[in-house]
Amino acid sequence: MVQPNRDTIVVLDFGAQYSQLIARRIRELHVYSRIVPYTISTEELQKIAPKGIILSGGPASVMNSQSPKPDAGIFSLGIPVLGICYGLQLLAMMNGGSVERPQLREYGFANLMIKKSSKLLHSIADGTRVWMSHGDAVATLPNSFTQTAVTANCKFAAVEDVVHSWYGVQFHPEVAHTTEGTKLLANFVLDICKAEASWNVGSFISTEVERIRKTVGSGKVLCGLSGGVDSSVVAALINKAIGNQLTCVYVNTGLMRKGESDLVVKVFRDTFNIKLIYIDAEQRFLDALQGVTDPEQKRKIIGKVFIDVFEEESKAAGEVEFLAQGTLYPDVIESISPSGGPSATIKSHHNVGGLPKDLRFSLIEPLRELFKDEVRELGKELGLPDEIVFRHPFPGPGLGVRCVGEVTKQRLDTLREIDAIFIEEIKKAGLYRSVWQALACLLPVKSVGVQGDERTYEEVCSLRAVTSEDAMTADWYRFPPEVLQNSASRICNEVAGVNRVLYDITSKPPGTIEWE
Ligand code: XMP
Repeated sequence: MVQPNRDTIVVLDFGAQYSQLIARRIRELHVYSRIVPYTISTEELQKIAPKGIILSGGPASVMNSQSPKPDAGIFSLGIPVLGICYGLQLLAMMNGGSVERPQLREYGFANLMIKKSSKLLHSIADGTRVWMSHGDAVATLPNSFTQTAVTANCKFAAVEDVVHSWYGVQFHPEVAHTTEGTKLLANFVLDICKAEASWNVGSFISTEVERIRKTVGSGKVLCGLSGGVDSSVVAALINKAIGNQLTCVYVNTGLMRKGESDLVVKVFRDTFNIKLIYIDAEQRFLDALQGVTDPEQKRKIIGKVFIDVFEEESKAAGEVEFLAQGTLYPDVIESISPSGGPSATIKSHHNVGGLPKDLRFSLIEPLRELFKDEVRELGKELGLPDEIVFRHPFPGPGLGVRCVGEVTKQRLDTLREIDAIFIEEIKKAGLYRSVWQALACLLPVKSVGVQGDERTYEEVCSLRAVTSEDAMTADWYRFPPEVLQNSASRICNEVAGVNRVLYDITSKPPGTIEWE
């Protein structure tokens, strides 16, 4: 997977909340970075031949004999190491130092006082603000180490062993709260590790296009399009590599948003000239969902009908060997769950509207090394319109899980109009890209209202917009009141059958982003 000629920084993951953030920050420096489980053997690590190793933070205590520890051989490879938080404590303890648990946990901002010039701290201002979040701390350093910076509560805030090129920081340079964190990571990656800053979207396209051509040969590839950014970028990239050996399949489930199906046809068939099988399966989905109100049942039905339709109709593409999927890097990282086990199933999720792995095809997943922001950059470079590249996430089961209660054609049409007005108002206010996701739900209640002196008794909808980094947690978006006011008044005036609009201010947790 990793090309030997690409300079790589490896992040050893000890179950940190921030491992992905470390890798993303390094990629922002145009150096390729990947996350590996801490259990990786020295031999496996040697195969990757990284220019540098970062030991992530983690929730465990190094003083616990059961806590995650790396293969000690990694310290003999002669590769620069940066330990962050738990990673620093490991570095110290595994090389002759000691760690203690001070009475107070240190959490929040601190000022970094520089005690000694250091390559790692080069051009970082004395007194700069850093973000701390730790219980344990290094008590004594191994002999070969020296202290380079302190904070009011931490005597080993930054340390180094220049002979081995080992560095450690107790704070988190990867989080935005650490003002000069990116500079520190750049000092490590570019100066200390001497990694070449050659990772960019342009170089990704050329290597990936070559790789796709080699894998596919003269075979045929099928790609399911959803209208979302990931599958769209996959299709555009594969089209660039192999042109008419690619066939895309788009299933109009009838659960799509207003104008979405037309946009897909316009972009892929008309602009990119890609062979597109367009399946209108609206009636089939409506029939299967008739009378169903339970969210889990809805999800299962939609998932099953989708797979059936896709399998039946994709036969029209003829003999196909490969299926392309828009899997992203966060889906493939073998990260360590801090709780040590898989998390509970909240919703039968994330593969709904996708395809099972045991289809008759070999999978190609050209985005599996990329983060979402890199996928967007790639989409722009490939010439996809902003309307697709910056589209908010949309769940596989579509409006089916936003039509709370029964899913009917009439209710879906109503919801499509509500959603379109809300999104239009957000775009008009110039806020679309500041929001992670905005959505409307039609609720299974009616309310009394008055319009033109007449009593009404009509449907109620809720609007929701959230900010998020990764959809695992989310906060409700604070709109200027006029955005909500304009949306509400337009919805009640323009959408027949709706007389009340609510704004959902639940964060996740305890709510989820979607209602069902
Ligand atoms: P929840 O509602 O669990 O959603 O907070 C988190 C994110 O995932 C999206 N979502 C889905 N995406 N298939 C998908 O591809 C699904 O079945 C699915 N369900 C929810 C949701 O829109 C949000 O971005």
